[in-house]
Amino acid sequence: MSANPNIQAPPDPGRLPMTLPLLMEKKRLGDPIVMVTAYDYPSARAAEAAGVDLVLVGDSAATTVLGHNATTPVELEEMLVLARAVRRGLRTPLLIGDLPFGSYEVSDEQAISTAMRMVKEAGCEVVKLEGGGEASVRRVRAIVGAGIPVMGHVGLTPQTSTALGGWKAQGRTAQAAMRIAEEALALQRAGCFALVFEAIPSAVTEELMPSIEVPVIGIGAGPATDGQVLVFHDLLGIREGLGPRFVKRYANLQQEMDAGVSAFAEDVRARRYPAPEHTYSIDPDELAQLRLLLS
Ligand code: KIV
Repeated sequence: MSANPNIQAPPDPGRLPMTLPLLMEKKRLGDPIVMVTAYDYPSARAAEAAGVDLVLVGDSAATTVLGHNATTPVELEEMLVLARAVRRGLRTPLLIGDLPFGSYEVSDEQAISTAMRMVKEAGCEVVKLEGGGEASVRRVRAIVGAGIPVMGHVGLTPQTSTALGGWKAQGRTAQAAMRIAEEALALQRAGCFALVFEAIPSAVTEELMPSIEVPVIGIGAGPATDGQVLVFHDLLGIREGLGPRFVKRYANLQQEMDAGVSAFAEDVRARRYPAPEHTYSIDPDELAQLRLLLS
């Protein structure tokens, strides 16, 4: 059994839990790192079954499962509920808790306290925060100093997308790409164990990769990164519309869900459901007794 009482998934003796040294080793060997987001027990079980390396309880939960049209509204308490459910479904991937907007920017103390809640109350092993500006770098240093590893995130950072001019690719001029490079290097110096590059031209990623010593996981950043991440609901088609350009869709589950619920509704209305095989029986003598009692 697992030593962590939060982990309830059955052990798979064939696979070792992902650790930070193993992650570095994968980078060194050029072995692609696989990361997905998850927000509940079933998505965590799918990630575990697929043998992915990293699972992120992303603040994308705000849009994918909570129905907001941006990531900013999700609350820390909501993230903790989702992360606990994911924890119960995982054994081997490293579990990353995303720090939601407003839960780490105010002070180093706030950032440490939020990161600690993610670890203590939800069983996350590490946390992620967005941005590579001065304030984010300070928060990274503080959280790492408190003993919690941090993943950085540069390029398109959805929590501050308004300030970035909207949900669009970043680093498309030399100056903008240089700013991403400086942010990535600053986060690396501050102690990030890995970085996410989001929505950056592939050629810019290629130029930056030789300077980055920690694993880089890309989402819309081209093939040169050490690994790739996609949002669970995007890759499985649990959404309306196609999503960003970088999404590759591997299933069409929204259509499947719509069809399944429609078929149920039709069965109920046509009195095809429940059929005898979906019902419970009672001994005829007991039924006779009940009728007597009722009369
Ligand atoms: O919240 C999220 O899902 C993310 C990924 C896109 C990396 O930050």
